[in-house]
Amino acid sequence: MAAIHLVDHPLIQHKLTLMRERGRSTSGFRRLLHEISMLMAYEVTRDMPTSMIEIETPLETMSSPVIDGKKTVFVVIMRAGSGFLDGMLDVVPSARVGHVGLYRDPKTLAAVEYYFKMPTDMPARDAIVLDPMLATGNSAVAAMDRLKKTGPKSIRFVCLLAAPEGLENFQRHHPDVPIYTAAIDRELNDHGYIVPGLGDAGDRLFGTK
Ligand code: URA
Repeated sequence: MAAIHLVDHPLIQHKLTLMRERGRSTSGFRRLLHEISMLMAYEVTRDMPTSMIEIETPLETMSSPVIDGKKTVFVVIMRAGSGFLDGMLDVVPSARVGHVGLYRDPKTLAAVEYYFKMPTDMPARDAIVLDPMLATGNSAVAAMDRLKKTGPKSIRFVCLLAAPEGLENFQRHHPDVPIYTAAIDRELNDHGYIVPGLGDAGDRLFGTK
């Protein structure tokens, strides 16, 4: 079973607390998610392979490590996943970006796909999938099912908050995919929301409610 990485850096925990607060403005929520995504990018890319290149410092030639960001694809699960994207791209600017559009059927809570667009050379790429909320896990599981058909070299999943039910569902279907999360909350409520949670991440990010 791949690991669950709890990213409990104090800066992330502090910013997450501010995001959870009911009265946080849309712009504040968006800025905090942006900052957290930059910080989480450090964790999720920690073991990225590097290769050595020859460079010239002002003093001499040296061999020095670089990451090939072009081999990374960030996969955004729309729509809340897009709030995670810019911060990740700040840190890995030459990564490519794919999108998966899924909506939750309000009755069954099952994930239904309406959009899917990836770079053409997925077998050459390490995929980092972004969705702030791992609630039932149905969207993440459906996104992984679909993404795996494109044959990426590796897949990681990054979220901000996870519910135990979502973690269990995800790991049952995709035990090979490591999960990075800033917190594991208590439970899901009857409407599929994470509690204590932070509410609807998409609505809070885009100010749509
Ligand atoms: N999606 C959200 O945005 N929030 C939740 O609590 C659960 C799913």
